[in-house]
Amino acid sequence: MKKIPVGVKGIDALLLGGMPEGKSILVSGNCGAGKTVFASHFISEALRNHENAVYISLEQEKGKLMLDLQEMGIHWHSHEKKGKLKIIGGNFASLRRLKDKRKAHSADLIQEIVEVVQELKAKRVAIDSVNLLLSLFDDGNEQRNCFAQLNYELQKQGCTVLYTCEVPEYTPMISWFGFEEFVVDGVFMLRRQSDHKQIAHRSVEIIKMRGSGHKEGSFPLRISDKGMEVLYR
Ligand SMILES: Nc1ncnc2c1ncn2[C@@H]1O[C@H](COP(=O)(O)OP(=O)(O)OP(=O)(O)O)[C@@H](O)[C@H]1O
Ligand SMILES: [Mg+2]
Repeated sequence: MKKIPVGVKGIDALLLGGMPEGKSILVSGNCGAGKTVFASHFISEALRNHENAVYISLEQEKGKLMLDLQEMGIHWHSHEKKGKLKIIGGNFASLRRLKDKRKAHSADLIQEIVEVVQELKAKRVAIDSVNLLLSLFDDGNEQRNCFAQLNYELQKQGCTVLYTCEVPEYTPMISWFGFEEFVVDGVFMLRRQSDHKQIAHRSVEIIKMRGSGHKEGSFPLRISDKGMEVLYR
């Protein structure tokens, strides 16, 4: 199986040489743990390798996201202009209104995403966050089926896929709904915790990666104006 760089400095060493191409990963974490930054590096890695990519943001408007990323030296404008990157952005409330207005079902949503991927011949897709995407639907069965089907369809297109996932604070959960981790091939858990002196500690742990060995345990993670880096030698 071909292994490819994830895009975050230091993480490929934890995966003993990168992640298997065409697999899907869930990047879970609490508030401010670094999920969006991780996903952005993942997409930038595709662009660096002259591959097309799709970024779906349900948390931030496209313009705001791009401004935030510029602060850490990630510039996507030219890639978007050249048609190599498609950023689909919008806040959850407006997407929810649109979905209700159109009386859309999960199959419609999946089809729309797959069409964008096909149009671009995208090799990487990031969805930030998958729990918000699934929250467009009220029924638990539809949410789970939607995720399984979406993941299946994207992998059928030959994409390597990253989903970010929020986790409730102060719980041992590794996803929002409790089923997301079973759908994907790999799970990366990001954590941000403050110690008793209010100093923040960030870490990453690979919980699973089908088709690849990996280091076990938590490793320190740093986010600066130069981006994200796993501190591991
Ligand atoms: N330019 C920067 N320089 C230094 N640190 C930064 C910079 N940009 C972001 N950060 C750090 O990264 C954190 C945000 O990371 P990110 O947005 O990826 O978290 P998240 O897990 O997606 O959060 P949320 O749950 O709110 O979506 C900020 O709170 C800040 O600590
Ligand atoms: Mg985020």
